[in-house]
Amino acid sequence: MSFRIPLAYNNFGPAELAAIQSTVDTGMLTQGRQVEAFEKALAEWSGASYAIFVNSGSSANLIGIEALVYLSRMRPDLTHGPLNPGDEIITPGLSWPTTLKPLLNHGLRPVFCDIDLGTLNATVEDMEKVRTKRTRGVVAVPVLGNPSGLDEIRAWCDANGLLMFEDSCESFGAVTPSGKNVGRVGMASAFSFYFSHHISTIEGGAILTDSAEVADLCYALRSHGWTRHFKLNRFEQDEKLQGIDPRFCFVLPGYNVRATEINAAIGLEQLKRVPDFLAHRRRIAKGRISAIADLTDKVVVPGADIVDRHSWMTFPMLFANSQLRERAQKAIEAGGVETRPVIVGNILRHPLMEWLGVNADQPSLPHCDAIFERGIMLGLNPLSSDEEEAFIADVLRRSIVD
Ligand SMILES: Cc1ncc(COP(=O)(O)O)c(C=O)c1O
Repeated sequence: MSFRIPLAYNNFGPAELAAIQSTVDTGMLTQGRQVEAFEKALAEWSGASYAIFVNSGSSANLIGIEALVYLSRMRPDLTHGPLNPGDEIITPGLSWPTTLKPLLNHGLRPVFCDIDLGTLNATVEDMEKVRTKRTRGVVAVPVLGNPSGLDEIRAWCDANGLLMFEDSCESFGAVTPSGKNVGRVGMASAFSFYFSHHISTIEGGAILTDSAEVADLCYALRSHGWTRHFKLNRFEQDEKLQGIDPRFCFVLPGYNVRATEINAAIGLEQLKRVPDFLAHRRRIAKGRISAIADLTDKVVVPGADIVDRHSWMTFPMLFANSQLRERAQKAIEAGGVETRPVIVGNILRHPLMEWLGVNADQPSLPHCDAIFERGIMLGLNPLSSDEEEAFIADVLRRSIVD
């Protein structure tokens, strides 16, 4: 079925197309100068010391979390001690499969916490409820552009000797109440630049960190485990490395999750458009919120109270009950506007959990269940015209009121 308003559509313009063409013309397409320039621009934009560009948000989680695991064993003084198999990591039940897999790769046990229905993010109170003696860290997941709770989670982690990683794949451009860019709160963070996200490199993602050690571990994990892109020469000073050609010196069992020059060239152009994109996303969210503002007995919009710090990757709605949601969802789609579940709803309800061996003893997550049963979201494209937004507002109102 095709929709007049799909969940996502391409927003590349003449500048992105010209950047693709001129990159192709250079004949140098694998990771090189454009990637380096995009990383520099991303670091400058965010205020982070390092940005490491990879081929997806999932890869950013994969190597960002793995870098923290290796660092915790090499330099436990930097991480409140080592992360060992069986250690518990708290993470919300409203997340994504590739938030979890990096933990499982190292025998770390994800312990799920519930979320706040007003923000869709976990709070410190949600995390405190599932903290045990084995808790060693947190993977926070600020969803859909909502920065709420991150500052408090960092303070709570620091007070309790816990490591914090941010899976901020959905929240590029959001700003926390303390004025920090999302992605700058944890020891490291992940962004996704998949085409429906805030900026698009077709596929792509990045890790941000202020730690030179974490950055070097990410450079190695990104490219086969080699030392070639290290900023520090800590490893080269190591006696074990003497006699190995430094261009082909492998210090970790790594991957290849590099992006290409074309992705980076697109990213450089998209980054210039961020102020416009964010302003439009917020304006669009405000318009849709006000179109249904008198229907709060039927539907509410999580995040509506912080529109200007939110970065509105999509437009989530929580209905008063599941019948109302089902009826409205059918009507919205029949009206030509595509919808989808709010991320995964409750990840514990997906069959993938059977393969992970972590289901036993997980707490019940009533708010994640509520999202699963009563939530939907619409896409939110920053290029959406006033005419399209008027159409969406009309479909929304009619579908909810009728
Ligand atoms: C919370 C979260 N983490 C990770 C990812 C993975 O990002 P990607 O699709 O770029 O691999 C997503 C995808 O949207 C996500 O929503």
